[in-house]
Amino acid sequence: MKKTVLVTGATSGIGLACAEKFASNNYNIIITGRRAALLENIKAELSEKYKINCTILCFDVQDKDAVFAAADTLEKENYKIDILINNAGLALGREAFDEAEINDWETMINTNLMGLLYVSRAFMPFVKESKGQIINIGSVAGREVYENGNVYCAGKFAVDAITKSMRIDLLKYGIKVTSVNPGAVETAFSAIRFKGDAAKAKAAYRGYKPLTPEDVADAVFYCCALPPHVCINDLSLTCLQQANATVFHKENP
Ligand SMILES: NC(=O)c1ccc[n+]([C@@H]2O[C@H](COP(=O)([O-])OP(=O)(O)OC[C@H]3O[C@@H](n4cnc5c(N)ncnc54)[C@H](OP(=O)(O)O)[C@@H]3O)[C@@H](O)[C@H]2O)c1
Repeated sequence: MKKTVLVTGATSGIGLACAEKFASNNYNIIITGRRAALLENIKAELSEKYKINCTILCFDVQDKDAVFAAADTLEKENYKIDILINNAGLALGREAFDEAEINDWETMINTNLMGLLYVSRAFMPFVKESKGQIINIGSVAGREVYENGNVYCAGKFAVDAITKSMRIDLLKYGIKVTSVNPGAVETAFSAIRFKGDAAKAKAAYRGYKPLTPEDVADAVFYCCALPPHVCINDLSLTCLQQANATVFHKENP
């Protein structure tokens, strides 16, 4: 029987690459995001290409009721979830603490932390039932803070803490809990962070070869393909020209 993976934020970047990586390895996929039309296109493409079942759940992870309602729709249909990938997230702004937009802080915390908590609780019965695995997409920003990273970093530090807590609390159920912490990955992330300022978004990836979403998806898949008794707790990865959250070796920056 095919296994099933649920990926939040599967309309773009790392989440989309994870959905395709698992589909190409014969998993059925449940894809989520807020953009319904995009989810429909991805479903059509991946289910046809890989001959797998693809289910769409369209919701905003900040909306607690919508998250739990989405899980209820699955329950009725008796779904099984072997792997939950908490990936949906974003950064907004790159200003100093005293200048940053407070609305941006709220959106980041409500998405990257509260959204991850709602999704994890809502879909936990499925993961418990399958003695499955939870992958939380953190960041090197959750390992070290960087200048003007303030609340984005704080949210990712919180993801690291909640990952460790989940691993302890869910140990008795045989659930693996893993955090995958990428450095810079070239996705829509920077365009969103800089609110459509294409020059700033492009500059974020200038002078070095960043990770691709597929690089991260490969690492996530690796963590899920190990023998049943082996759990990778934390996996951090950066491109060769990035040493940690702050240090890059750029050419002609
Ligand atoms: N790119 C990097 O350099 C980097 C590095 C380290 C960690 N990360 C982390 O990797 C994750 C994915 O980012 P990415 O780089 O792949 O960015 P991306 O291409 O912008 O993708 C973000 C995904 O999250 C979804 N999302 C955002 N807000 C949402 C909400 N409120 N409700 C539901 N879905 C939401 C988006 O879907 P919709 O717009 O359709 O809702 C989209 O599918 C994030 O958690 C990010 O913090 C990224």
